[in-house]
Amino acid sequence: MNDSARVVVITGGSMGIGRAVALKFAEEKAKIIVAHYDPDDSASSTTLELLGRYGAEATSHKVDVSDYGEVEALFKDTIDRFGRVDVLINNAGIARDALLMRMSEDVWDTVLKVNLKSVFNCTQAVVRSMVKMKKGRIVNISSVVGQIGNPGQANYAASKAGIMGFTKSIAREVAGRGITVNAVAPGYIKTDMTDALSEKVRDAFLEQIPLRRIGEPNDVAEAVYWLCSEAAGYITGQVIHVSGGLFM
Ligand SMILES: NC(=O)c1ccc[n+]([C@@H]2O[C@H](COP(=O)([O-])OP(=O)(O)OC[C@H]3O[C@@H](n4cnc5c(N)ncnc54)[C@H](O)[C@@H]3O)[C@@H](O)[C@H]2O)c1
Repeated sequence: MNDSARVVVITGGSMGIGRAVALKFAEEKAKIIVAHYDPDDSASSTTLELLGRYGAEATSHKVDVSDYGEVEALFKDTIDRFGRVDVLINNAGIARDALLMRMSEDVWDTVLKVNLKSVFNCTQAVVRSMVKMKKGRIVNISSVVGQIGNPGQANYAASKAGIMGFTKSIAREVAGRGITVNAVAPGYIKTDMTDALSEKVRDAFLEQIPLRRIGEPNDVAEAVYWLCSEAAGYITGQVIHVSGGLFM
């Protein structure tokens, strides 16, 4: 076992942006813990197979990140096993779109719990161990929508704006302990989440993207990975937009 390898937890790491981030860490042969909440293991098995090709040690766990107890157990097991967590990527997220007048309380609560409370759950579960080590990297995946809003996404936008405020507050709390906390706000990225949207919605977004293309998961992964590098050690409390200029 390579003890100098970084221990990296990626929520929502079974597919899409999370998988692309996991693959970046696989290149350095990190120890990767993927959390997901897919109905079956098909996506996470593919991810583990891809990570294995780089010789990275990776495991996947079905954990509902909105559940405080399940998250606590995942991080306890991880820290018992590896002694630490070097990097936390809070990436898991869902969209349940509806115009406000038709949005049920349940849909509001679910999106806020999965997208925002999860970030509290995971960050709190890991921060004590990072404080002890006097180092750590946390990157939270927000969204351009948290900054500019989007009709039909009041719940999603509120959760993603909440992540920005959370990121800046925790960055201030832990900066003195050598831990950086940043957010990455993707624009329109090609994943299962956006495949669910109509061509009309996609084309409307495309019109507003100065770089005139839909983003790829790896566009986001590159920024996330860089924020976790030594080179980005003087950057904390920031929101980096990866949106082809959709927001500037
Ligand atoms: N795709 C985009 O255009 C886009 C744009 C901006 C922000 N984002 C954000 O990026 C992140 C990843 O998005 P994606 O497009 O790759 O999504 P995706 O739908 O492809 O993957 C979502 C991942 O989150 C996991 N997940 C969902 N609910 C969970 C729960 N309760 N507990 C644990 N894991 C859970 C899924 O299992 C899956 O691994 C999300 O936070 C999303 O809001 C995506």
